[in-house]
Parts: sequence; structure tokens; C-alpha cells
Amino acid sequence: MDTAVTDHLLSTTRAVRRKLDLDRPVEPEVIAECLRLAVQAPTPGAAQSWRWLVVRDQEVRSRLGAIFREVGTAYMQRRREAAGAAAEQQPMKRILASGQHLVDVIERVPVFVIPCLQGRPHGDNAADSVFYGGIFPAVWSFQLALRSRGLGSTLTSYHLVKEAEAARILGIPDDVTQVGLLPVAYTTTQDFKPGTRQPVEELSYLDHWGTPLVS
Ligand SMILES: Cc1cc2nc3c(=O)[nH]c(=O)nc-3n(C[C@H](O)[C@H](O)[C@H](O)COP(=O)(O)O)c2cc1C
Repeated sequence: MDTAVTDHLLSTTRAVRRKLDLDRPVEPEVIAECLRLAVQAPTPGAAQSWRWLVVRDQEVRSRLGAIFREVGTAYMQRRREAAGAAAEQQPMKRILASGQHLVDVIERVPVFVIPCLQGRPHGDNAADSVFYGGIFPAVWSFQLALRSRGLGSTLTSYHLVKEAEAARILGIPDDVTQVGLLPVAYTTTQDFKPGTRQPVEELSYLDHWGTPLVS
């Protein structure tokens, strides 16, 4: 195992919004290749209840994009208001601009991937943890596989506010749950850096809540 390569992949796979190449087509084969890797992820009871809806058709992307923009614009507005004066200062200014950019160009992103689960969530922690845990490890593997092939994505949740409307556009049955929407494109750069994260020392414990794992 080449740790240098895997560590680089794991630490530099970012949510890509502004560095998506909107003009370069994405062939279905590369998406299928990444999904083949994604479905190596674990599922509870090896159930493999995941389904993956890959959208390339421009008309469908435009219709989903309209939902995405409506919900995303309202969300970004709320975030700007919540940030107050900080919205005009870095790093918040950059974060908000990145989020807004994706909302602005959404239907121009060449491929949307909508990860779905067969079934509906139950509403209690144990059951829902198992339910959603049946796909999110694979979603991240998919994003890693994209990155290693020069593509980028962001896991988004905006359109879920209008999940039923999106389901009608896509022909998704009532007993299937959409868990997000990944706009996917080749990236205009490969030069991604590790993100800013809270130190592990401050958020990991040993044996008892509050006892540092490492100090
Ligand atoms: C469950 C989940 C939902 C997310 N929803 C959105 C979203 O609706 N819109 C968006 O722009 N990013 C969304 N993101 C991406 C996060 O904003 C992003 O991962 C975070 O800002 C960290 O970015 P980084 O990994 O590039 O450091 C979501 C991420 C997760 C895990």
C-alpha cells in the first residue's frame, strides 16, 4: 500500500464547486468505473440497498437544477444573514462565494449523481443510523474514486427539501429515498490542499468522554 498516495487522496479530496470544468463532457464509463469502486463499501448486513441515478440529459438537469437553485439560494441567503459582518471577511467570504457559485451554475454541471436507498427512514436513531449508513461510506468512496481520476464533486442536500418533486421528474418510486445530489465534472486543477479541520486532539477521547486520546 502506497501510504503517500492514499493519504494524499484522503486529505485532498475537497468539496469542489468553483473548479468544476463545465465545458468538458463526462463519459458514463468513468462514472460506472467509480461506482464499481464505490460499491465495495460496507453495507449493514451486506444488504446493498443502494441505487445510483446518473443524470446527463440537459432537460432533466435543468429541471432538477431549478429545484436546487430555489432551495440553495434561500439557504445561502440564510447563511449570509447568519454570518453577519463575517460574511465580508475570509474565510467566510470564500465559503459563501463557493456555495453560491454552485447554485448559480448547477444545470451546467455535466453530470448529477443521485445516491438512493431502497426503503424509507424510520425516525429512530438506531434504525436511521443503519439506514443512512447503508450508503454514505459508498458515497465518499465514489468521491475519492472521482478525485483519483481527475473529477470532482460535492455532496449536496438542497434538493431533498423537494424530494417528492425530484422523484416525479426522475421516476423514482415512493419507497426509495434520495440521500443527496452530487454534481460531477472534471476539475480545472489537480492542486487541492488539505482542508481546515479542528485538531483531532480536541475531539477524540480515550476510554471515557473527555479524556484526551492523545495530548
Ligand atoms: C451530508 C452532507 C451534506 C452536504 N450538503 C451540501 C449542500 O447542500 N451544498 C453544498 O454546497 N455543500 C454541501 N456539503 C458539502 C460540505 O459543505 C463540505 O463538505 C464542507 O464544506 C467541507 O468542505 P471541504 O471538504 O472541501 O473542506 C454537504 C456535505 C455533507 C457531508
